[in-house]
Amino acid sequence: MVKSSSLIVAAVVLFLAAASVASASRSSLYRVTDYGARADPKTDSTRALSDAWRKACSDPRPSVVYVPHGRFHVRDLRFEGPCKSNDILVRIDGTLVAPSDYSVIGNAKNWILFHGVDGVRISGGILDGEGTGLWSCKLDGRRDCPTGAMNLHIANSKNVAIDGLTSVNSQKFHIAVTGCQNVNLRDITVAALGTSPNTDGIHIEKSTFVSVLNSTISTGDDCISMGPGSRNVWIERVACGPGHGISIGSLGWKLQEPGVQNVTVKRVHFVETTNGLRIKTWARPSLGFVTNVLFQHVLFDSVKNPILIDQNYCPGGRHCPRQASGVKVKDIRYKSIRGTSRSKVAVRFDCSKANPCVGITMHDVKLTYVGGARDDKEATATCANARGTSSGFVTPVVRYS
Ligand SMILES: *[C@@H]1O[C@H](CO)[C@@H](O)[C@H](O)[C@H]1NC(C)=O
Ligand SMILES: *[C@@H]1O[C@H](CO)[C@@H](O)[C@H](O)[C@H]1NC(C)=O
Repeated sequence: MVKSSSLIVAAVVLFLAAASVASASRSSLYRVTDYGARADPKTDSTRALSDAWRKACSDPRPSVVYVPHGRFHVRDLRFEGPCKSNDILVRIDGTLVAPSDYSVIGNAKNWILFHGVDGVRISGGILDGEGTGLWSCKLDGRRDCPTGAMNLHIANSKNVAIDGLTSVNSQKFHIAVTGCQNVNLRDITVAALGTSPNTDGIHIEKSTFVSVLNSTISTGDDCISMGPGSRNVWIERVACGPGHGISIGSLGWKLQEPGVQNVTVKRVHFVETTNGLRIKTWARPSLGFVTNVLFQHVLFDSVKNPILIDQNYCPGGRHCPRQASGVKVKDIRYKSIRGTSRSKVAVRFDCSKANPCVGITMHDVKLTYVGGARDDKEATATCANARGTSSGFVTPVVRYS
């Protein structure tokens, strides 16, 4: 008795939840279960989700694609635009689960792709990429492993909002935003093992006006990475760790490459990450640049390389003909930063001998060293080809060169 009445209550609550998402904006509701999706491991719901999307996309009214509670198994999914309305909500209360056999989507590049859309909000839900099998393949050094698919890729799109979404165990990058304008991510959770290879949390590239707010990222590669052409990016209230930190780069692999400009990173907390705030460029000729970056109110907890500009990136020493980066790094500000470094060198500016970094400013930075002997708490800074100024209280002392 108890069981059936609680089921009825649950059903009513579900019905109300679905009804309220639709009625709130007087929009059409496309419930994926009406198109054959079923929350059971034997049903492949790929087709049902694409059908529901196609209906929503061809509807001139605002619409809602609704995924109820439960685990829905889907292969690679493409949500293609343009659509007839600029107001589509993809509301996920349940979990989308990728095939546990990684070879099914391992070469698909994307597991869930939104392409060419304008005016879409993705709200809630868990994306489970089932990536652990592929990580083991890569960690075992096997050569036949596929590259892996990204959990969620927003490509060539405009005006996209993502909130309350959780991405776990992606095969490769968790969330990527490429070729986009105005994409806002809020309340995102990324979770994967610290040892998982190539699982960047959020990757931004060739996109402008992208924000990441109030999010928690634990993964095996960069928490957030910004590639060439990232412009007007705002990152605020993000917790990172484990992971490789927040990185601008790698940049400068190509000669012709769009620059990175106007990036703000604020109120970020790093816990036991390998890097903190990093700018990284290949030691190769390039017309790329990084300019106008602000890092402010940052806290480091036992981070290996808290502040790092590395313009001499060239793993294995190959493919770097003149061994100097052409990327121009300019106007990088570090303000109100504190915490602990797990290595003695807490600040490392290793800029290009062909294009020294210019306009570095540090204001109120206080980093100490943990992990040395009890009386050895002093962190140091190293500086090559970096011009700039310090003001307020700055330790370690940086000798610009
Ligand atoms: C930040 O995210 C947490 C969940 O991670 C949520 O509970 C909280 O309301 C969010 N805060 C703001 C200001 O958005
Ligand atoms: C920099 O980007 C922010 C959004 O991240 C935007 O509000 C601001 O206007 C931009 N500033 C310039 C000078 O373009």
